[in-house]
Amino acid sequence: MKIDAADFASRIETYQQRVDASLERWLPGAEVHPQRLHRAMRYAVLAPGKRVRPILVYATAATLDVDLARVDGAAAAAEIIHAYSLIHDDLPAMDDDDLRRGRPTCHREFDEATAILAGDALQALAFYILSHDPAMTGSARARLQMIEKLALFSGSRGMAGGQAIDLAAVGRTLNVAELETMHIHKTGALIRTCVQLAALSAPRLGKKRFRALDSYAKCIGLSFQVMDDILDVVGNTATLGKTQGADSARDKPTYPSIIGLDASWEKARELHNGALQALSIFGEEADVLRYISAWFVERKS
Ligand code: IPE
Ligand code: IPE
Ligand code: MG
Ligand code: MG
Ligand code: MG
Repeated sequence: MKIDAADFASRIETYQQRVDASLERWLPGAEVHPQRLHRAMRYAVLAPGKRVRPILVYATAATLDVDLARVDGAAAAAEIIHAYSLIHDDLPAMDDDDLRRGRPTCHREFDEATAILAGDALQALAFYILSHDPAMTGSARARLQMIEKLALFSGSRGMAGGQAIDLAAVGRTLNVAELETMHIHKTGALIRTCVQLAALSAPRLGKKRFRALDSYAKCIGLSFQVMDDILDVVGNTATLGKTQGADSARDKPTYPSIIGLDASWEKARELHNGALQALSIFGEEADVLRYISAWFVERKS
């Protein structure tokens, strides 16, 4: 289906509402024992984030003509892993941030131990959803492949590994290749997983289309973190919902600090072009994915 900017905006809103309903279904209620832990989990997950990762799951499913009900679980699982990563990323031992999604960070609102446990429990919940959700897939093999992807890409060879590289890099200069490796792991891996989870829900997808979607996901996964770095310099705290300038205050290696702001914008644009190129084997059905790539490099928050 051909879509324009207004259609895209309304799709985004539909997907955001859809995943919020799915998250509400899977998260234990605030009144469920142990209440403090469950309140912290809900606080972090249900806070107003952009829901980029679930949007990507739904958009990929829509492109492949997969019923969205089949990916509600994958969309929720991806957002839950992301929320866990943000809780831990903000801890004093990591980035030591006080503001997230326009609110006090989880450890500020609750306490450090509760925030650590909320992250732990969210990670487990994501895998529970993938292993349990009856609406997801009739194929046990596809379900196992989804669990495997999420485990691989969120673990030490994916997101958690990227976070380790990030922490080890503070105060050091990285070369561009090292910087790219760090970003591909800490942020790109989960974004790539989102596209793969939806692709695994599409029977008879074929290697060619799978590879094209994966190349697209690699480009936008990196462009997303390049823009995150840029926004730390040019964004503002109110719009970002997190403290602008936190990277330079902590001497974090980022794209702007290593190659400069202009070259960072250029890198983001190149990655957007790469994403469009990767989708060239698709027709109008992939327009929503093209819009997502543009959104990633034009965003202000
Ligand atoms: C922030 O992610 C952390 C990164 C991996 C760059 P988002 O920019 O998607 O944060 P929310 O979910 O909208 O809060
Ligand atoms: C976060 O990167 C990556 C993960 C949470 C895995 P950042 O540390 O740059 O994210 P923000 O800027 O705090 O959102
Ligand atoms: Mg960080
Ligand atoms: Mg951070
Ligand atoms: Mg950042």
